[in-house]
Amino acid sequence: MSASQRYITLSFLFLSLLVSFSEAKDILVGGKTDAWKVPSSQSDSLNKWAESARFRVGDSLVWKYDGQKDSVLEVTSEAYLACNTSGPIKEYKDGMTKLTLDRSGPFYFISGANGHCEKGQKMIVVVMTESRRYTGISPAPAPAEYGEGPAVAPTSSATTLKAGFVTALGVLLWGLF
Ligand SMILES: *[C@@H]1O[C@H](CO)[C@@H](O)[C@H](O)[C@H]1NC(C)=O
Repeated sequence: MSASQRYITLSFLFLSLLVSFSEAKDILVGGKTDAWKVPSSQSDSLNKWAESARFRVGDSLVWKYDGQKDSVLEVTSEAYLACNTSGPIKEYKDGMTKLTLDRSGPFYFISGANGHCEKGQKMIVVVMTESRRYTGISPAPAPAEYGEGPAVAPTSSATTLKAGFVTALGVLLWGLF
């Protein structure tokens, strides 16, 4: 393999990794399936989780809950603070809610179940600005940089990442032999 072939192969490998790292993620709210509920304590609150997670434009939030008993309301900051469940921006009650974060800035969510917001079932998600999506990518990234930390449980990114690695490896081997 010539030097230029090697260069092209390595460039492709690196680009494949970049693409898989910057892929939009499905983020399970609370990091587990039964997280959308009244928190048992302050330290168990969803805001605690949301503060430790990273959200980017294009990522999707996924809620799993019992649609017979609960719902997800996207509300204004005023309604969030007042736990006002009437006239939300959007209401979801299908038990399996997926919402794409289509802009940067804060999103406010409260439970539509009677009295649950007052007991702490509420969450603010702050989405980083789009331009920051591509900054901080270096050849040796810390895993936590990409929301792969314990607080976040992406439902699809692991597969995407794996696919990226496999493709890159395949190309590398194809170039070598
Ligand atoms: C709750 O929100 C609705 C719709 O925005 C509004 O009409 C109502 O006055 C609010 N109620 C309270 C108690 O703030």
